[in-house]
Amino acid sequence: MEKGKQLYEGKAKKVFATSDDTLCIVSYKDDATAFNGEKKGTILGKGVINNRLTNRLMRLLEAEGVPTHLVEELGERETLVKRVTIVPLEVIVRNIAAGSFSKRFGVAEGLVFQSPTIEFSYKNDELGDPLMNDYHALALNLASVDEIALIKNYAFKVNDILKTFLLEHDIELVDFKLEFGRLSDGTIVLADEISPDTCRFWDVNTHEKLDKDRFRRDLGGVEDAYNEVMRRLLGDTI
Ligand code: TMP
Repeated sequence: MEKGKQLYEGKAKKVFATSDDTLCIVSYKDDATAFNGEKKGTILGKGVINNRLTNRLMRLLEAEGVPTHLVEELGERETLVKRVTIVPLEVIVRNIAAGSFSKRFGVAEGLVFQSPTIEFSYKNDELGDPLMNDYHALALNLASVDEIALIKNYAFKVNDILKTFLLEHDIELVDFKLEFGRLSDGTIVLADEISPDTCRFWDVNTHEKLDKDRFRRDLGGVEDAYNEVMRRLLGDTI
């Protein structure tokens, strides 16, 4: 499939058209940002790792009954995906307190929840992705009642599947962010990426951070952490 014109450039990926208007090509960059783009940097090899990890995890989810946009990995950084309109909600599932949850509710990082939580942010960089509840999303017509119910259902199912899979590789799934899209017929599918950029992964024994928090918090060893996740999940490094 030939890469057509660039449709969109985000902070971590570019999206290109193809000759088939139901498909596009996602290209993963090494660029890293945090705090709504205020902090900028490069994580060498991140694009390759995130492309391959996302595809591995999306294949697993598809096999377990969660529809995704994935079609085919085309190269180290590039993947063919179904063209979607992104539902402008960041869907965040948490198993353990960390990040903005710890800050907002004054609880120590590492508190293991009785049951997982879910929250939405309005995907809007100008506003800094504000927290949003279901009624806000409905009021602004971002998604229907049925779509919101389906998205929550899928998000918790993704959590169950990924938690189990990651634990088999000695990784604790602390929290993660998902984005969903609509196909032209309105079908909701999982889109975007699932990677150390969008998840918190901790080593199950040492609780060492194996994700983008190493970049956000200047902890060092950023590339090593991404490589370690790839080694554990794919048996490979770059
Ligand atoms: P938070 O604790 O900062 O709200 O982050 C929750 C999860 O969402 C964490 O796994 C990182 C991910 N995340 C993104 O993927 N993109 C973002 O812009 C933010 C703020 C968080």
